[in-house]
Amino acid sequence: MWRCPLGLLLLLLLAGELTLGARRGRGRRELAPGLHLRGIRDAGGRYCGGQDLCCRGRADDCALPYLGATCYCDLFCNRTVSDCCPDFWDFCLGVPPPFPPIPGCTHGSRIYPILGTYWDNCNRCTCQEQGQWECDQEPCLVDEDMINAINRGNYGWRAGNHSAFWGMTLDEGIRYRLGTIRPSSSVTNMNEIHTVLGPGEVLPTAFEASEKWPNLIHGPLDQGNCAGSWAFSTAAVASDRVSIHSLGHMAPVLSPQNLLSCNTHNQQGCRGGRLDGAWWFLRRRGVVSDHCYPFMGSERDEAGPAPRCMMHSRAMGRGKRQATARCPSSHVHANDIYQVTPAYRLGSSEKEIMKELMENGPVQALMEVHEDFFLYQGGIYSHTPVSLGRPERYRRHGTHSVKITGWGQETLPDGRTLKYWGGGRDLLVQEECLSTSLSLFPVMSKYQLQRINHDLVSADHGISFLLVSD
Ligand SMILES: *[C@@H]1O[C@H](CO)[C@@H](O)[C@H](O)[C@H]1NC(C)=O
Ligand SMILES: *[C@@H]1O[C@H](CO)[C@@H](O)[C@H](O)[C@H]1NC(C)=O
Repeated sequence: MWRCPLGLLLLLLLAGELTLGARRGRGRRELAPGLHLRGIRDAGGRYCGGQDLCCRGRADDCALPYLGATCYCDLFCNRTVSDCCPDFWDFCLGVPPPFPPIPGCTHGSRIYPILGTYWDNCNRCTCQEQGQWECDQEPCLVDEDMINAINRGNYGWRAGNHSAFWGMTLDEGIRYRLGTIRPSSSVTNMNEIHTVLGPGEVLPTAFEASEKWPNLIHGPLDQGNCAGSWAFSTAAVASDRVSIHSLGHMAPVLSPQNLLSCNTHNQQGCRGGRLDGAWWFLRRRGVVSDHCYPFMGSERDEAGPAPRCMMHSRAMGRGKRQATARCPSSHVHANDIYQVTPAYRLGSSEKEIMKELMENGPVQALMEVHEDFFLYQGGIYSHTPVSLGRPERYRRHGTHSVKITGWGQETLPDGRTLKYWGGGRDLLVQEECLSTSLSLFPVMSKYQLQRINHDLVSADHGISFLLVSD
């Protein structure tokens, strides 16, 4: 007796629900064709399981992004296989899926087809036929084990993950991020310039060029993946010295790209170069500002030659030179050529280097960069022994050059005092690293400007030739 009315009631409820659904308009879900109709083969993966999602009844909100489309984890799925998340059946219903599993490999919450790949930092992993991942085994530039070992080891500096280095191999770091060729013996044997310290002269325990010459010391430019530190450090030291010695009448950021593209004799652009060649070029040919001839960057793996030289300089008499072309940067008109006087080598006496820095401005230094340097995040860097026990391909080094703007000392929590050379806010290197253990070459390269006629400078702000007298 009661069965019929009850059945009727249920049907009515059902009809009510349908009407309600229709009144809401047809949802995205009803309009969307099944995933398989859009050419998406079910690639598997833990979608419902990954988010612990199984909605009761029909729930259009119970959706997850899936290979550029949407999949669902609600019981409405049981109606059709068209738009259910791949693990709906086994995770929500506990039954095998109504389609055969696709062979592949799992990574994270996804299944990859055979020959599918993903990157694990600098190594590519490929899904093999047997459903197994096979990954390259290159040492990476950012190495978590090394970061942890350095931070545990109390070496006076902190290591961390530079996102720009993530995904690069150690080999790529050495090849693309440094870029100074070791000087030949004719350069290392160049006469030293000796700065004379007065009798009993005491140098401060700390010095920073940007405090002595505010606004005349330029911040570092980013060399990116261009192994051109030879051009960057030389242009940087020259920029500061031009600014200091012109008493701020000129404060150009000199163009590393001008050196990279035009100083090509015995130089290799973004594949490395020599400091003595760069100083020679700055003296004899001169360069324009970075504004005028901006850095063009360098693609990794780029095998081709450096971008061709966009401007040369020609003699105008009396040692002055002028550019042969307009600025490569079309909206900059000032293409003045800046030249410098000869570079000299400084002696390895720490005191003399300090005095030189204090009196004439930043100096250039060569440093041997090891694998751990790429993890430097702060503190006073020195090369650590954390990679000593590892195979040789994890222990790599290359020659780099930097601008040194000051020095100082810092007392560590354990009471040790470390002296350092500083490169502005960005680089603190323990003293021995540059002067003895790491670099076979002392802090070097003095560059001196001739005194400039002030009247000449102030009469014409466009003037930027520095007379080079012999
Ligand atoms: C799914 O649908 C089938 C057939 O329509 C039914 O036999 C099964 O009980 C349903 N499963 C669930 C968990 O609702
Ligand atoms: C390092 O940084 C990159 C990019 O920011 C990030 O994707 C990666 O997960 C980080 N790795 C570690 C170990 O912190």
